[in-house]
Amino acid sequence: MVVNYAKFYVAGLLIMIADVLSLKNVKLTIEPQIVQYLSHSTLRCFYDLEDDILYSVKWYRGLHEFYRYTPREHPSTKVFPFEGITVDESNSNSTQVVLRSIEFNLSGNFSCEITTDLPHMVTGIDTQWMIVIQLPEFSPQISVGRNVLDSGDVLRANCSSPPSRPPVTLQFKLNDLMVAQNDPFPFRKTQEKSWSDLSLDLLLSDIHFDNGRLVLRCIAVLPDIYYDEVELELESARNPVPQRVRGLSGVRKPTTPTMLPYILLCYILLRMSFLC
Ligand SMILES: *[C@@H]1O[C@H](CO)[C@@H](O)[C@H](O)[C@H]1NC(C)=O
Ligand SMILES: *[C@@H]1O[C@H](CO)[C@@H](O)[C@H](O)[C@H]1NC(C)=O
Ligand SMILES: *[C@@H]1O[C@H](CO)[C@@H](O)[C@H](O)[C@H]1NC(C)=O
Ligand SMILES: *[C@@H]1O[C@H](CO)[C@@H](O)[C@H](O)[C@H]1NC(C)=O
Repeated sequence: MVVNYAKFYVAGLLIMIADVLSLKNVKLTIEPQIVQYLSHSTLRCFYDLEDDILYSVKWYRGLHEFYRYTPREHPSTKVFPFEGITVDESNSNSTQVVLRSIEFNLSGNFSCEITTDLPHMVTGIDTQWMIVIQLPEFSPQISVGRNVLDSGDVLRANCSSPPSRPPVTLQFKLNDLMVAQNDPFPFRKTQEKSWSDLSLDLLLSDIHFDNGRLVLRCIAVLPDIYYDEVELELESARNPVPQRVRGLSGVRKPTTPTMLPYILLCYILLRMSFLC
């Protein structure tokens, strides 16, 4: 058997030269990268063709191609059916794809792959992740027993936050002292939309009273994504005041902009989403 090594050699050389001469900086951005369930996101592919001509732009979710732009073909765009992906064709072109009504199961890696035309036929690819979440529809809610409280009494309270994915972390603060918190990462529940609940069973002592007052807050958090809290002034035997609930609904204060919890959360979500 005669193997034409020269052919391989020339081809290899061409590819090497092509690498040097054309197609640089293929870069994918996804905005937003953390997407609210059933909303939309824009995937943009940046590339520098140098002096080459574009042959195709291919878009992948994982290994599955769902959209292709080939300028020389008619029509120049093609959508490949993929359950759960809805391409907004009127807003998609050679540099971007808009996805609408995004389902949970689209969490994962997306790629854009650029191929240049002859003679070089060079390919460049970039990959980014996307996470689909659902935030709670309304603020957390506190329920407490109705008795007047003094030192030596037990304060019992519940807080619950409506279904979300992933479920939020809840915290109880009594006069700014943290008195209860649930599992910061409900690992097993990441795949489900579910309620978050937290119970408090606290023996009150003098340190819990602030000038006779007891202000209980329940705080719902997804690190760097979501923050909401409600506050309830409890009836204190030391400084009796009527109960009132003040919801801070809609006020989503950003948490401390540390990247660590954010990265950790994304990592966990990505890992979980491929277990199913
Ligand atoms: C993703 O979820 C949607 C809606 O639940 C479903 O129609 C589709 O089949 C799912 N796709 C995959 C690949 O599981
Ligand atoms: C693709 O569409 C976006 C939004 O309509 C536009 O900003 C962008 O310039 C378009 N790209 C090209 C190459 O036409
Ligand atoms: C997603 O991409 C990252 C880096 O590009 C890779 O480490 C990870 O394994 C990919 N995940 C899956 C499920 O393909
Ligand atoms: C808290 O929830 C538990 C379990 O649902 C319930 O038994 C208890 O009565 C609740 N307590 C308050 C103060 O709402």
